[in-house]
Amino acid sequence: MATTTEKIFSEFKEHSVAEFFKKNQQMLGFSGKTRSLTTIVHEYVTNSLDACEEGGILPEVTITIEELDKEAGKYRIITEDNGPGIPEKHLGKALGQMLAGTKFHRYAQQRGQQGIGASGCTMYAQITTGKPVKVVSRYDHKRISCEITIDLKSNSPKIVNLVKEDGEFGSGLKVEAEIADAKYDKSSFGAYEYVRRTALANPHLQIALNAPDGEKAVFPRSSDKIPEKPVIVQPHPLGISTNDLIDFAHREREFIRISSFLQERFARVSPAKVDELRGLVPDLDFNKKPADLQWIEAEKLVKAIQNPAVKWIAPATDSVKPIGKEQIEKSLNNILAPQFVVVTERSPKIFKGGIPFMVEAAIAYGGGAGKKAGDIASSEVIRYANRAPLLFDNSGCAISEAVKEIDWKRYKLKNFEDEPISIFVNISSVYVPYTSAGKQAISNEEEIVQEIKNAIMEAARDLQRYLSGINREKDRHERKKAIMRYVTQLSKDLPELAGKGKSAELEKKLVHLIETKYSSQIENGEDDEESDGNGKNGKVEEEEDIDE
Ligand SMILES: Nc1ncnc2c1ncn2[C@@H]1O[C@H](COP(=O)(O)OP(=O)(O)OP(=O)(O)O)[C@@H](O)[C@H]1O
Ligand SMILES: [Mg+2]
Repeated sequence: MATTTEKIFSEFKEHSVAEFFKKNQQMLGFSGKTRSLTTIVHEYVTNSLDACEEGGILPEVTITIEELDKEAGKYRIITEDNGPGIPEKHLGKALGQMLAGTKFHRYAQQRGQQGIGASGCTMYAQITTGKPVKVVSRYDHKRISCEITIDLKSNSPKIVNLVKEDGEFGSGLKVEAEIADAKYDKSSFGAYEYVRRTALANPHLQIALNAPDGEKAVFPRSSDKIPEKPVIVQPHPLGISTNDLIDFAHREREFIRISSFLQERFARVSPAKVDELRGLVPDLDFNKKPADLQWIEAEKLVKAIQNPAVKWIAPATDSVKPIGKEQIEKSLNNILAPQFVVVTERSPKIFKGGIPFMVEAAIAYGGGAGKKAGDIASSEVIRYANRAPLLFDNSGCAISEAVKEIDWKRYKLKNFEDEPISIFVNISSVYVPYTSAGKQAISNEEEIVQEIKNAIMEAARDLQRYLSGINREKDRHERKKAIMRYVTQLSKDLPELAGKGKSAELEKKLVHLIETKYSSQIENGEDDEESDGNGKNGKVEEEEDIDE
């Protein structure tokens, strides 16, 4: 007879990563109807943009969303790009195997990383409608079309109806996914907003959305400048955790000693540094294979790396690829058509001592800026990581936190919530510290929150100047109107008092006097800047230091 232990363990089973994510769909962004649809659009659009950037192609993306069954939340989503396409050999794995892709093993600033986005969409289609995704890949004088599903048990792709054609088809990828339990809406979490925000942060992108409500939205590109290709860099030792180190070491195939692995795979590690680390971790054999590195040893190594006595040269920051001031200005003007725009340009900074990042912040005010509900505008915060919009998990995000901490009254905004203002923040980094696998919020690292605050406050000071200008202009106008009210009466009374009868002429002269006084003040910029000392230098820097 089987023992209790045997009985319990007769149930012991393995499951694949695909089965794991089937059970934990929310980790991939498939939770809630609106979010699920936005996630699908996000995964395909980020892939198209990454692929075009790598191929040096100006991206053109068209998304078509068809509503198939409102009650069941069933939609067909077709995404088509003009990127490099995917070769037949990799097509199955790219869309039908989790943790497979071209970006996972490199350390470069791209939107995707895990090799789970596209295959996650395939899984979602499969488990909600039972349908495969239909793919057409065009590249190198070929067109390959097929249908892909994932064998969830083995996490491997299944391809059917494969058709190959030779000819001149250009290049690009088209993916068609049928999903259920989803919803298209125009809320700030919906697919439309996702596309609009993507256009804002990617001025080189031409993107069109054919929405299920019949709307055909086209966001034309505002710049022909293709972003620089991502550069592959080595991570700085200060930026890695024990888990990362184990991952890197166990994946290592080329270097046979931990000492050479450390020098060759990480930035700023010299033979002298390895010797220093050797001194700090005497019980680790630096000559053994990286694959044999144990957790406890890796833990000690990371501790030694972070020991304040070990001085490191800061990492290079050339891996960080921002959008650019001019580019952001163009797209904000193009899409929001605000009355006023300011973009701050800041240098890359470093967090955790080893991870370079850069914050770009912009403020658009008036006109089409802000959230609109009929005629009423309110403020909106548009968050990005590596140009990909972050629509969800607002409350736990470093960007929202930074905006909340700013005293907006200081910048002439009495009720921040009710202002026609859009705050745009993009964080660029090879390693963006997300709060979860859903990649929708940036963790509240102190150095990051601080830098975001500084960037926004720098922009806010320009906004303040602009708003003070408007207020002064209004004041001046009111004063002029008030004086003008007395002119006619005064011009009648004055000659009477002086005993002469030339009131019409006097009135003309008085009007002229007032007109000249007020227009010359405007032209000469008199009292234009209440010199508050808030110039770009001096006090500003102090403010940042004192304030935060
Ligand atoms: N539109 C596309 N054009 C060219 N290649 C693509 C396209 N979409 C996906 N790929 C390829 O398929 C791979 C898998 O895509 P997937 O979205 O699953 O992962 P990823 O983008 O690498 O990482 P993440 O899971 O973070 O999105 C990509 O790494 C890329 O090589
Ligand atoms: Mg992806």
